[in-house]
Parts: sequence; C-alpha cells; structure tokens
Amino acid sequence: MTRRKLVAGNWKMHGLRDAVREVEAIAAAAAAHPDVDVALYVPTTLLALAAEHAGTLAIGAQDVHERDSGAHTGCISAPMLREAGATTVIVGHSERRADQNETSHDAWAKAAAARRHGLSVILCCGETEAERDAGRAERVVQAQIEKSVPEDASGDWFTLAYEPRWAIGTGRTPTVEEIAAIHAIARAKMRQMVGEAADGIRILYGGSVTGANAGTILAAPHVDGALVGGASLTAEKFVPIIEAAA
Ligand code: G3P
Repeated sequence: MTRRKLVAGNWKMHGLRDAVREVEAIAAAAAAHPDVDVALYVPTTLLALAAEHAGTLAIGAQDVHERDSGAHTGCISAPMLREAGATTVIVGHSERRADQNETSHDAWAKAAAARRHGLSVILCCGETEAERDAGRAERVVQAQIEKSVPEDASGDWFTLAYEPRWAIGTGRTPTVEEIAAIHAIARAKMRQMVGEAADGIRILYGGSVTGANAGTILAAPHVDGALVGGASLTAEKFVPIIEAAA
C-alpha cells in the first residue's frame, strides 16, 4: 500500500505572534510540494492565527483533554481545538508522559476524544535510553502500542510516531537499521490489533531530525515521514526536510 509522506513540525512551547512569519513561509513550502503532507503543531495560543495563514498546511495542537467539557482547569477539549482552527493533534508525546505523568491509556483516551470530533491524531511512542540499553526497546514500544492505539485506528485519521526519548533534542539518532526495525515491529503489532487497516497507517520517525539527516531517514524502509521538533521552528530549517520528503 502506498502511503503519502507526512512531515510534521512540533513547536512545543515556542512561538509568539511574530512567529506567524514562519507559518507563512512553511505554508508556502507545503503548497509548493503537494505530494507531501505537511503539518505544524503550534502552541494553543497560536492556533487561530496560524490557521488563518495555513493554506494546505495542517495546523494542529500538542495535546487534548479526553473529555469534551467540564471542571478541568487549564485543559483544552477537542471541540475547543476545532473551533480555534486545529484539524489535528499530537497525543502521548514523551515530554507529556515525563512532565505530566501521562500514560499510554491517557493517550488512548485522548486519541478517541480527538477522533470523536474529527481531529486527526499523531500518537507518540518510544523507549528511554535505559530501556534501549537493557535490550527492551522493542518490547516497550509494543506495550505502548497495545495500550494506546485505538481499536478503530486507520490511516485516514491516525498516525503513529516513533520517538526514542534519548534522541529528542540531543542531536543523536538511532541508525537507519534500528529505526526501520522498530517501525517494522510497530506495524506488525498494529496489524495484530486492527488487521489490514494497519497497512494504511503512517509511522513517522522523530528525534533530532534535521535537513542534513532527513533524506537518509525518510528513505529508510517503513518510514512514512518525520515528526520534527527544533528544526521545525524556522522555515529555513524545516523546508529542507519537506523537500527531502518530496
Ligand atoms: O515531537 C518532536 C520531537 O520530540 C523531536 O524533537 O527537537 O529532537 O526534533 P527534536
């Protein structure tokens, strides 16, 4: 099955209103490469502004609450994200797992909430350095997938991102063979869970992707795109990654 490449930028807690210049430039690159899907996950405060300048670029949020409304101070629901202009959301990022104690079950519930309101989802998984050193990377990722991938996951709304925690923001990446091996295992696990629908689900690699290494990583077997942090903050750094996917 052919899967279109997806290049997604996660701005994390970066960006004030003047960053709309970067959104415009990234949107122009997305429009120039219609064979690649491009998405930008901006801070909640920038959603509406970014959506105004998005064109074919998908604008997303970095988290969502599992409920639609209620007494949850500081949280944002899927209907609110939709109203602000988001069409997609990241769930289960390792920074939220580490900083907010989020679990794979939380990621599952958040993915389901997003789905109910028509938001597409990137769900993140990935092992720590200690887990990899102990030879447990495959089992950790399989267990995360088992607990977090929704029963109705399919490629039209759901994407998995493999982000080894030790590769995030460190400048270190696994070898292409290591990435391909985990992606193959992740797809096999999803096939057990959702059957043939797994073949339509994109699996992105995330962790220190740059313009310099994107070509090699994106050409690896089983890699359907990239989830990019630091190198997505400016068009200057992000556009070469979009070009590498084209
Ligand atoms: O979600 C993307 C991310 O965690 C990777 O960050 O800065 O290593 O590209 P970075």
